[in-house]
Amino acid sequence: MRQIQNIALIGFMGTGKSSVGQLVAAQLHFTFLDTDHVIEARAGKSISDIFAQQGEPAFRELEKKIVGELVTRKRTVISTGGGLPANPDNLASLKSHSLVVCLWASPEKIWERVRSQTHRPLLNEADPLAKIRSLLEERGPYYRQADVLLNTELRSLRDVAQQVIHQFHMEHRGH
Ligand code: S3P
Repeated sequence: MRQIQNIALIGFMGTGKSSVGQLVAAQLHFTFLDTDHVIEARAGKSISDIFAQQGEPAFRELEKKIVGELVTRKRTVISTGGGLPANPDNLASLKSHSLVVCLWASPEKIWERVRSQTHRPLLNEADPLAKIRSLLEERGPYYRQADVLLNTELRSLRDVAQQVIHQFHMEHRGH
C-alpha cells in the first residue's frame, strides 16, 4: 500500500529538477532535499571528485543509501540525480512514499541547457550530445515508470512547478 507523503522528481540532467523542486517545496511549505547535495555534503567533495577518485559505482552506492533513508520522510520534495531511478530498487522505494514525477526534455534541449556547465562528469565526453542520446535511451524505460511525465520544453520552470503541485493535489483528492 502506497502512502504518498512526498514528491520525488526524477529525470535527466538539465530537465530542471532542482529548480522546479525548490519552487514546489516553497509553495507547499515542504522541505526540499536534493540527493546530489546530500551526497556532496556527506562526502565533503563535489560529485565530479567522487566520480574521479572513487568511481561511479561508489557514487551509486551513496545514492542507494540515501534512497533507503528517505522512506521516513514526510512533506518533502526530493530532487534526484539523473541516474538514480535507473536502479529499479531505488525507483520502487521512492514510489512507496512519493508521487514520482519525471521531467522530460529532448536530447537537443538538454544539451542546450547543460552545455555551458562543467560539473557533470558523465558529459565530459568528446561527443556529449551522443552521450545524452544514448543515456536517455537506456534510461527511458525507467523514467517512463514515473506516475506523471511532464514535458518541460515549452513550459517555464514556474509552469512545470504548478503542474507538479496540481498532480500532487489530484493524487490526494483521489483524482
Ligand atoms: C547523473 C546526474 C547528476 C549527478 C551525477 C550523475 C546521471 O545529477 O547525480 O553527475 O547519472 O545522470 P543531475 O541530474 O541533477 O544533473
